[in-house]
Amino acid sequence: MRLLVTGGCGFIGSNFIRHQLADYNDVSVVNLDLLTYAGNLENLADIKDDSRYEFRRGDICDRELVDEILSGGPFDAVVNFAAESHVDRSILDSGPFIQTNIVGTQVLLDAARGAKIGRFVQVSTDEVYGSLGETGLFTEETPLAPSSPYSASKTAADLLVRAYHHSFGFPAVTTRCSNNYGPYQFPEKLIPLFISNAAQDKALPVYGTGTNVRDWIHVDDHCRGIDAALRHGVDGEVYNFGGSNERTNLEITHAILKLLHKPESLIHYVTDRPGHDLRYAIDSSKAERELQWTPQVDFESGLKATVDWYQQHADWVAHIKSGEYQSYYEQQYGERLQ
Ligand code: NAD
Ligand code: TYD
Repeated sequence: MRLLVTGGCGFIGSNFIRHQLADYNDVSVVNLDLLTYAGNLENLADIKDDSRYEFRRGDICDRELVDEILSGGPFDAVVNFAAESHVDRSILDSGPFIQTNIVGTQVLLDAARGAKIGRFVQVSTDEVYGSLGETGLFTEETPLAPSSPYSASKTAADLLVRAYHHSFGFPAVTTRCSNNYGPYQFPEKLIPLFISNAAQDKALPVYGTGTNVRDWIHVDDHCRGIDAALRHGVDGEVYNFGGSNERTNLEITHAILKLLHKPESLIHYVTDRPGHDLRYAIDSSKAERELQWTPQVDFESGLKATVDWYQQHADWVAHIKSGEYQSYYEQQYGERLQ
């Protein structure tokens, strides 16, 4: 199977490519990634010389480039991870989110349709459903009601995918997953941010009261889900993936502090995120029933392994935190932590 993977130098895409090459002898991958602030060649340093792997630096919005790559196939599938992925950055500036997440998806859909690609996987998020109250779960039938510029742009992309299937019979599936954690996650998201800050005795900025709930899933389980959708999904269908593992942000914070033997005095309650979704929780029963998928990593051991990974990769973290990250951090947290 020959795959065009976009955004493969980011967190989930790099884990996905590594798993594909390890799990299947007959898979080859072209990875198209723009190397934005979130893209990092170090994430795939261990497989860069594998003859089944090729890296192309470029923008998914560049139709000429995408056409050129697809004409060098034949490709069996396109798996689209490329995105601006952080809610807080979308609140600071939504422009790149509209461009990459919406226009980029449209360009990929048109190019893949032109090249008669047999399978397109749109990697989406549970955030397209908006926020839950204290009870209930997101199913694939939950109405789309995004809250942030990030989730609005992902919703627009999902609707384009839906429309291409409806209008042209385009062979796409969409996956919607809950919050991922694991190795190689950029330390702007809650878990790697708090692990790396706590390891350096820096403040942990908890938004609001810390009672917002997320359904955490290990990235390996998400990658297994995308693989199942890629190989066994039905055209036009949406599949939810979740960890059945709801935690408040404060529970996550306490667990990280405990694993690192750090004091609770590192917790700083800061001004809440505007429009902060209260709770996400996923009903994955469709994927379990139709794709024979179940999450396999239990949260306690997954979080411990993740904390260990970040401690063993202090250089990786230091490298990221030395660049553009500094000005982002100042803009996002400077006033909040004063
Ligand atoms: P990430 O921010 O770590 O990586 C995104 C990657 O896309 C980077 O390598 C970046 O360089 C690349 N990219 C950005 N713009 C590009 C462009 N215009 N052209 C080509 N490449 C570009 O993101 P992630 O956390 O790995 O998320 C991957 C996908 O999974 C996203 O589509 C996201 O919406 C979705 N998702 C993420 C989560 C999560 O918890 N992180 C949960 C559900 C769904
Ligand atoms: P995040 O990792 O940004 O994922 P998402 O917003 O896509 O769910 O945030 C997870 C939760 O952690 C969310 O409720 C916001 C909260 N949070 C903080 O309290 N402080 C922080 O510094 C960050 C980045 C997130």
